[in-house]
Amino acid sequence: MIYLAEPNLTGNERKYLNECIDTTFVSTVGDFVNRFEMDVAEKSGARCATAVSSGTDGLHMALKACGVERDELVCIPAFTFIASANAVAHCGAEPWLIDISDESWTMNPEMLEEELEAKTRVKDGRIFHRENGKRVAAIMPVYTMGMPADMDKLRKIADRYHLPLVADAAAAIGSKYKGKNIGELADATVFSFNGNKTITCGGGGAVVSGNEKIISLAKHMATTARVGMEYDHDMVGYNYRMTNLQAAVGCAQLERLEEFIEKKQYINDYYKKHLEGIPGIKFFPETEWAKSACWFSGVVLDNTKDVREVCEQLAAKGIQTRPFWKPVYMQRPYKDAEKSSINVTEKMWKHILTLPSSTGLTEIQLESIICALREIL
Ligand SMILES: Cc1ncc(COP(=O)(O)O)c(C=O)c1O
Repeated sequence: MIYLAEPNLTGNERKYLNECIDTTFVSTVGDFVNRFEMDVAEKSGARCATAVSSGTDGLHMALKACGVERDELVCIPAFTFIASANAVAHCGAEPWLIDISDESWTMNPEMLEEELEAKTRVKDGRIFHRENGKRVAAIMPVYTMGMPADMDKLRKIADRYHLPLVADAAAAIGSKYKGKNIGELADATVFSFNGNKTITCGGGGAVVSGNEKIISLAKHMATTARVGMEYDHDMVGYNYRMTNLQAAVGCAQLERLEEFIEKKQYINDYYKKHLEGIPGIKFFPETEWAKSACWFSGVVLDNTKDVREVCEQLAAKGIQTRPFWKPVYMQRPYKDAEKSSINVTEKMWKHILTLPSSTGLTEIQLESIICALREIL
């Protein structure tokens, strides 16, 4: 089977894991955790970082550190993995779903602005939903498949409404926005290092920021809000720290970030080059403002083809592929969430087919995927 997203663990992972075992530093304290935090900050172009146990936990901590509280609203795209909405719910808040734009599959800034203008009012410098009275507390774009959202436009809206920006950049480490690293575009940016990500720790996440206060608060909350060494805790905290074992794998992975991103972009170009011209298929968006980290590559099929059927036919040939995210408003916990009109998400979510995108793919494997797909389509 050629898998969809296989971790590439052929660097120093084993060596660093052995160091953890030899030194007995396997838990949340250790040199690899410190090094991983410095490396993530440096590689993403942010002043500081804190490592956590998952991307979801990182989003939860980032939202709380940016001031999101119970019964408030956070604007997120309607098209995202459910973890973005869950992180909002973990704060006791509710997602307000905004459609994505056709050109990038990330939160549509014009739609966001229209929604805020039409449905909110300002009171004492804070903004509230006119109908349900809830305060709008943050804007959280998602860097879909590793593609940064149009952050200059979103920053203008955030500033106009005095709202913090938290970026769900789960799969976007290594991407670029207007030629620059992405670590300080939002007030807090969150990465996932889950097993299917370009850089993995097995599981894990990180919050990065240019604002040291946000990072130290996120870190404090993620460390059971402990003060000193005598079991004092000054708020309700969480046990969300990354372990040294996870960070050891992460350090080895980050040593190869540039190589991995290059390979991901190569895979994306390869599929485009060899599938271009097949009637009824399109590719994932490219924008003039950003260079995607190409977490997943794939195709968008037209109405004449059924993604599930194509997946089954490819599986029969030993190639694992998958449909992509189901929109948030289709998930049971969020079916009544506040939302904008959702034309773009509705139009495209069913037609996405993600293709094998592992950094270890060989030329022969890529060729066989192309052959199989051409034959089926
Ligand atoms: C957009 C998005 N947000 C959040 C997450 C959650 O990350 P984790 O699985 O590390 O909790 C993911 C994971 O795939 C994701 O794709």
